[in-house]
Amino acid sequence: MIHDAIAVIDFGGQYAHLIATKIRRLHVLAEIRQPEDPIEAFSRYKGIVLSGSPSLSAFGEDSGYTKAIYDLDVPILGFCFGHQEIAKHYGGEVIHGGREWGHADLHLTREHPLFKGLARAERVWMSHFDSVVKVGPGFEELGHSSLGASGPAHRYAAIGSDTLRRYGFQFHPEVDDTEHGDEMIANFVLGICGCAPSWTMAQYIQEQIGRVREQVGGGSVFLLASGGVDSTVAARVIGQAIGSERLHLLHIDNGLMRKDESRQVLETLRAMGLDRHLHFVDASETFLRALEGLVEPERKRKAIGDAFIEVFEHEARRLGIEGHLLGQGTIYPDTIETGGTKRADVIKTHHNRVPIIQEMIARGRVVEPLADLYKVEVRELGETLGIPHEILWRHPFPGPGLGVRLLCSTGEPDRGDFDEIEPKVAAVGRSYGLDALALPIKSVGVKADLRSYEHPVLIGGAAQWDRLLEAAGTIFKTVPGINRCMWNVGPRMPKRVRPLGATVTRDRLDLLREADAIVNDGMRRHGVYGGIWQCPTVLVPLEADGAGREFCIVRPILSERGMTASAARFPAALVAELRERILALPGVSGLALDITSKPPGTIEWE
Ligand code: XMP
Repeated sequence: MIHDAIAVIDFGGQYAHLIATKIRRLHVLAEIRQPEDPIEAFSRYKGIVLSGSPSLSAFGEDSGYTKAIYDLDVPILGFCFGHQEIAKHYGGEVIHGGREWGHADLHLTREHPLFKGLARAERVWMSHFDSVVKVGPGFEELGHSSLGASGPAHRYAAIGSDTLRRYGFQFHPEVDDTEHGDEMIANFVLGICGCAPSWTMAQYIQEQIGRVREQVGGGSVFLLASGGVDSTVAARVIGQAIGSERLHLLHIDNGLMRKDESRQVLETLRAMGLDRHLHFVDASETFLRALEGLVEPERKRKAIGDAFIEVFEHEARRLGIEGHLLGQGTIYPDTIETGGTKRADVIKTHHNRVPIIQEMIARGRVVEPLADLYKVEVRELGETLGIPHEILWRHPFPGPGLGVRLLCSTGEPDRGDFDEIEPKVAAVGRSYGLDALALPIKSVGVKADLRSYEHPVLIGGAAQWDRLLEAAGTIFKTVPGINRCMWNVGPRMPKRVRPLGATVTRDRLDLLREADAIVNDGMRRHGVYGGIWQCPTVLVPLEADGAGREFCIVRPILSERGMTASAARFPAALVAELRERILALPGVSGLALDITSKPPGTIEWE
């Protein structure tokens, strides 16, 4: 079946993906297109949305994209940068200035189909430096904005020409802070473009099953099953299409998995009836060897990626992969190469694009039934196929697994600018009535869209949660060189700490695995697992007790997509339980909860 579809032109950042996700929720297919795609690529769409951009400015220089879209006889709607581009293209004027950031009120000039069902004043989210100050012939101002009821009016917050069917919003309707953004998008897609909402998951499954059957014919498929959501759902779709007799699955234990995880993965696949040809290899020795003696995070990541290729190629040849088509759980953001973090991309590139796979792709021998879907849609599809909820809604787990949660160190304190930082951090702590100790190690963070590699701070004292967050915020604002704050929860606030020489060993991995299992078990039993996006448990080679025992850090966060995050607050009973159980582990002498938002701290520590 051919579905009505909308093209979303991706001018950068995550905006385009957000917009596409929202349109798809209306059961209308939305596809991401690149600005430079040839005009023929736009021929099948019933409407076009131009996304915002974190870096482009519609002011001055000519922004290179396929302007011929304006000759197409379909409605076009632009957001932020896209709005400014539309204004400019049709003879309006854009200037540097008129910055708005945060919630604003949109005051509509008149009733308009784009705002059907909405009030004359709407709460919207603004984030722009440039502004439209004049519209071209045929365009009208559909609404202006103000920051607060008494703020000055910003003109042209929404513009349009009903004759041309061209519209623009200075605000971002795709973010949840725009209260009725979903309704505005629906008014455009279903109303103005007239798309039929025919793209449903039930329909999608049937189409994919048909496609897989056609592609595989009488052949068979080989699929790498990590136990993650994507590969599990892909296995299920392919199994449904061709039957388990012709589906070969391989699960690799890289030694960096969670406690008991490989056993559970195999059990799940068996329970799904996909065990006709279920292969398993324990490759933990190979990965441990590859990681031996390494300390630097990126070198560890590369070693894990390389070991993966080695094991995969070896196993694939041993199992005669050449005779099969290759099944992969590649999802939409991977397909268009913009999703996830840059580091996630590197790892995923390793997994999905190793040479042996590249050759197979070139020969049309790769089956990817989820390649059009976002993660939330993969989960929805999994639900439709009856895959258990707890498998579909497991917290995301990074490709390099516990490998990036086991911090390593030469044992040399990383002091650099430390002598200046230490007293400043302590002074901010005192001003809040708290102890604050800068730590002589570094972890990864993100500041102004760039990676930072800076010191964490340990905060101690019986403080209210809000007060802790406030103290952390002040430290980030006033002390350069800090990207992370933790709240010390046990046993006592150390006066000083010392880095320990530590690399990846089986013993340390086992210790981290045990702590991670305690945290996951605790979250489940206290009923908080489902509300939390992800909760890395990290082992940090810092000693406070002179006995060579390490620090354990727990990082529960709330997030929508992992791009930004805030620290989640555990109930006191769970904190008390973690204190008791984790500090009882031999090898651990300290426990802290990471209370950093992203930015400035990334979710993972490495
Ligand atoms: P950060 O730490 O960048 O993480 O805030 C954002 C999300 O990406 C995951 N992550 C990774 N996933 N390989 C992966 O497959 C990696 O190297 C990697 N590093 C981070 C992280 O768990 C979070 O969900």
